[in-house]
Amino acid sequence: MDYKILVNKDNTLDKSYIPDDLVDALSSYRDGILINKLVLKQFNLMREDAKKLGYNIDIMSGYRDYMYQEAIYNKLLKEKGFAYTFRSIAKPGTSEHQTGLAIDICIYKGDKCYIEHEVEDSEEINWLINNSHKYGFILRYPKNMEDRTGYNYEPWHYRYVGDIAEYLYKNNLLLEDYFSS
Ligand code: DAL
Ligand code: ZN
Repeated sequence: MDYKILVNKDNTLDKSYIPDDLVDALSSYRDGILINKLVLKQFNLMREDAKKLGYNIDIMSGYRDYMYQEAIYNKLLKEKGFAYTFRSIAKPGTSEHQTGLAIDICIYKGDKCYIEHEVEDSEEINWLINNSHKYGFILRYPKNMEDRTGYNYEPWHYRYVGDIAEYLYKNNLLLEDYFSS
């Protein structure tokens, strides 16, 4: 598995692309979430360290196959229109979720696991932004990078990239920069 794979609006995956090494994330958020085996191992290390600080995090979305991405894309398109959808959900074949290397992280407050604006400025989100590289993850769609990533800020979407995560984090770079340098 190439952990540095670049998937974005211009670098697409075939409809038939299904990654190897998918395992059940055993998420407490919902059953049946699959992600890459190494990504789960690294996420679990991160989650254990977060727990020591009193932060309770889990995975609310992982691998999404082409058809599932198509279904959520079309649903949002119908509900919110093209402009909103274009900046929020990847068209099928252009989502990192199809690689099994992307995860959407939610933050438990009591029994409910929250994402998005609900926890945007929370301690947990800050900790993840500044520590996830130690486990091989990057915040993939940062704030103020919307024009370059093509997506709105997504404080919940992390991408496993392996050993280049620290370099990208410390130099404030996107994954795209790694491929254009
Ligand atoms: N929300 C991200 C961009 C995706 O759909 O892959
Ligand atoms: Zn995501």
